[in-house]
Amino acid sequence: MKQILFFTLPLYLYATSSFITPKEYAAQLYKNPRGIGCNLCHGENGEGKLIAKYKHKGVEKSFRGPQINNKTYEEFAKALNRRKKGMPRYFLTNKEVEALYLHLQKDKEEKKKDDK
Ligand code: HEC
Repeated sequence: MKQILFFTLPLYLYATSSFITPKEYAAQLYKNPRGIGCNLCHGENGEGKLIAKYKHKGVEKSFRGPQINNKTYEEFAKALNRRKKGMPRYFLTNKEVEALYLHLQKDKEEKKKDDK
């Protein structure tokens, strides 16, 4: 029984994942890229987010994920391939980086429409 599950589960996942549109894929990827979502540190739409507050030698400090929806594609892609402090390294493919970038641009455009 276990073996059957072992064999069919990946097939099932593959089958369901191939029915999503690129847009849905990008939205999912942003929230769950390799275990930990970008949204946890950069906010739902890449607007940036306060992650934690702490005291260091009596001074209040904060640790935040910077805004990432205001970058050019080159800046965005470069940043993801560089080692950073406080951010996991994801080893995303170019396609994934592109999808994430477009996802953040799309959210911004929808926001602009709402403002009008
Ligand atoms: C655990 C928190 C955390 C997660 C999760 C995370 N980041 Fe970050 N990210 C950071 C921090 C902190 C920095 C600032 C690092 C630095 O300045 O060295 C950063 C920097 C960046 C930058 C560069 C910003 C700049 O101003 O140059 C980009 C782009 C970025 N992250 C994209 C992403 C994407 C896309 C994901 C998901 C695949 C992600 N991050 C997940 C914490 C996180």
